[in-house]
Amino acid sequence: MSKINEELMIKSVRFSNRLGMSPMCQYSAVNGFAGDWHLVHYGSRAVGGVGLILLEATAVAPEGRITPYDLGLWDDAQIDGLKKITDFIHAHGAVAGIQIAHAGRKASHDSPVNGSAQLSAEQGGWATVAPSALPFDANEIPPLELDEKGISEVIAQFREAALRSLKAGFKVLEIHAAHGYLIHEFYSPLSNKRTDGYGGSFENRIRLLLEIVEAVQTVWPADLPLFVRLSATDWTLGGWTLDETVRLCEILRKKGVDLIDCSSGGNVATARIPIGPGYQVAFAEAVRNTGIMTSAVGLITTATQANSILQDGKADMVLLGRELLRQPYFALTADENITWPDQYLRAK
Ligand code: FNR
Repeated sequence: MSKINEELMIKSVRFSNRLGMSPMCQYSAVNGFAGDWHLVHYGSRAVGGVGLILLEATAVAPEGRITPYDLGLWDDAQIDGLKKITDFIHAHGAVAGIQIAHAGRKASHDSPVNGSAQLSAEQGGWATVAPSALPFDANEIPPLELDEKGISEVIAQFREAALRSLKAGFKVLEIHAAHGYLIHEFYSPLSNKRTDGYGGSFENRIRLLLEIVEAVQTVWPADLPLFVRLSATDWTLGGWTLDETVRLCEILRKKGVDLIDCSSGGNVATARIPIGPGYQVAFAEAVRNTGIMTSAVGLITTATQANSILQDGKADMVLLGRELLRQPYFALTADENITWPDQYLRAK
């Protein structure tokens, strides 16, 4: 048996193996509501044998959506559609998790199939918010700088979305603090030029994330796993660094965060990222050395690769993104002992 198929306990939750589905926006929601696409898409990966399914970035507020087609959890009415999905996932042996998110200055864009351009008000777009009035791309309409009242509202929105996630049956909650979205915009010195308590020093730039973690912990049960996805580096001189990530993770560990999902980039349009197989694994390893669990993600496409990351102690879980879009049943053949659904046993 490979390390992939070793079970993992995080708090009260048991994962049957170490493979997870990385959160991937489907841009298929209507007014934030999940529909049949989401049930079939996530359900297929549960049937496909991964231990964890992290649902896509789900907006905590309408203005926090990347596109008008993102999932949302700003309204109690959005709980039911997600509950159907978590019920199905749990009935088939995987654990359902959700990534709650606010896109900050990267909100109000069209979907990738329509070109991803920023939407004007006439096109159904909305005013975006950020730590400072700096656009992600020089050609875009700048975001509005959040004042302290606005920051408090965002923190409350994360707390409310966490509570709704619980009601929807999720057993893992991931705070999206990566990829140039709102929380990352605060901790990166390139997008945060504030002079108040939320800008300047390292302690001030990470304050929003810490306050969101604390707010979420008031409603998210202490025996359920709490993950944070971080961009470990901005890949840009003068930007957020791996050293700062490691410092931040020591603080997050002490606060009771269970696992850091180690990604990178997304906050600088011109950053040059040395993309290649497993290019972010070293970040998961560096963070894991601080004593917190990590997941590795990014161009991990084979069982051998995933297994050696786990075997070498570089991460506790491996998340797969695009490979699971290509092969929903990847996990079934990644290890001979992974449990197959009864319905498919004649094909084994
Ligand atoms: C993504 N990614 C992503 N990341 C995230 O944190 N939240 C999200 O909602 C999304 N959405 C998304 C949609 C699509 C279509 C893709 C391909 C990617 C990033 C994803 O989770 C993963 O980190 C990267 O794709 C790298 O892993 P792979 O694809 O190389 O395994």
